[in-house]
Amino acid sequence: MSSVIFLLLALAFTMFRRKSNSQSHQESDELQHEHKVNELKDALGPLSGRSLQYCTDACLKRYLEARNWNVDKSKKMMEETLRWRSAYKPEEIRWPEVAIEGETGKVYRANFHDRHGRTVLILRPGMQNTTSLDNQIRHLVYLIENAILNLPEGQEQMAWLIDFTGWSLSTNVPIKSARDSINILQNHYPERLAIAFLYSPPRIFEAFWKVVKYFLDAKTFQKVKFVYPKNKDSVELMRSYFDVDNLPAEFGGKATLQYDHEEFSRQMVQDDVKAAKLWGFDKPQSNGCGAAEVSPEPEYLAPPLNSNKIKDDFETHSIFTKALIKEHKYETSADFLRTHMEKSKIYDKDPRSDGNSAAQPPYK
Ligand SMILES: *[C@@H]1O[C@H](CO)[C@@H](O)[C@H](O)[C@H]1NC(C)=O
Repeated sequence: MSSVIFLLLALAFTMFRRKSNSQSHQESDELQHEHKVNELKDALGPLSGRSLQYCTDACLKRYLEARNWNVDKSKKMMEETLRWRSAYKPEEIRWPEVAIEGETGKVYRANFHDRHGRTVLILRPGMQNTTSLDNQIRHLVYLIENAILNLPEGQEQMAWLIDFTGWSLSTNVPIKSARDSINILQNHYPERLAIAFLYSPPRIFEAFWKVVKYFLDAKTFQKVKFVYPKNKDSVELMRSYFDVDNLPAEFGGKATLQYDHEEFSRQMVQDDVKAAKLWGFDKPQSNGCGAAEVSPEPEYLAPPLNSNKIKDDFETHSIFTKALIKEHKYETSADFLRTHMEKSKIYDKDPRSDGNSAAQPPYK
């Protein structure tokens, strides 16, 4: 009899233990995360000026999250961003500098949020009508900063809606541009993108995607969702994020997509005032301020390696080509690679790489 009671007690105890374990699981996770944030803070050492302002606890958490809570890797990532920010100065870009890139409304902040209050950027690559890659990237960086500036309390992420109307391989789609944009988003805005919906891309986009997806890290890759009007699950997924009343007709919704450049410019100019206040540009800067920040390194925007360690060399080309062969798309893709990867100068020799002169695309 007593052994039965003992068994019951033991069972009850185990169950209790298990229950309390699962309850405290989340708590201990949070504690661990807090601990990691402090570790990262210590590892980064004393910061000042804008670097200090940038490295909030929430920010450190995003970098840790992006590197699976590995403090060393997060530190490296953060230092690269601080270096990039001190050279590129994304917080100093003002609307008039990039407005010309926005005239067609190829990228802009939507006037609605997703169901979770996230800022929404609408991207319409088919509306591209400028040629300077640097200016295009600067415009995109401005809008990412602007999306962040317009986040409601407690929300840190944005959502992207990509409309392919008018998109073709003959409109400017340099792979280099896609790669550089992806690198900036992944390396310097970790965990800022919640989800990106690519709405009904044309068949020809598949060839482009097969190359571009290699630039995405696993976390970003998971956030990219293709939506096709005939695929119910994909439509439902998009609608779980967006109210149909807000969604423009171009994305299968009920609203009208309207981009009024003048109206948008007015908003951006107001936001510039907000941004200046936030970063303290509205006050006179004391001289020498920021001198103790991470020292800027020679400025370069497109690192020779991205977080996937993808190089622009023969080997990389082979990886692409192999992938394309595997998909039995070589005939068409060879053409695609020839015209577009060369055009985008993806094989230009990088002076910082060890310069493998034997690197020749195999289709030559
Ligand atoms: C791009 O399109 C806009 C709007 O149609 C136009 O005002 C602008 O001049 C164009 N820019 C270029 C560089 O062609």
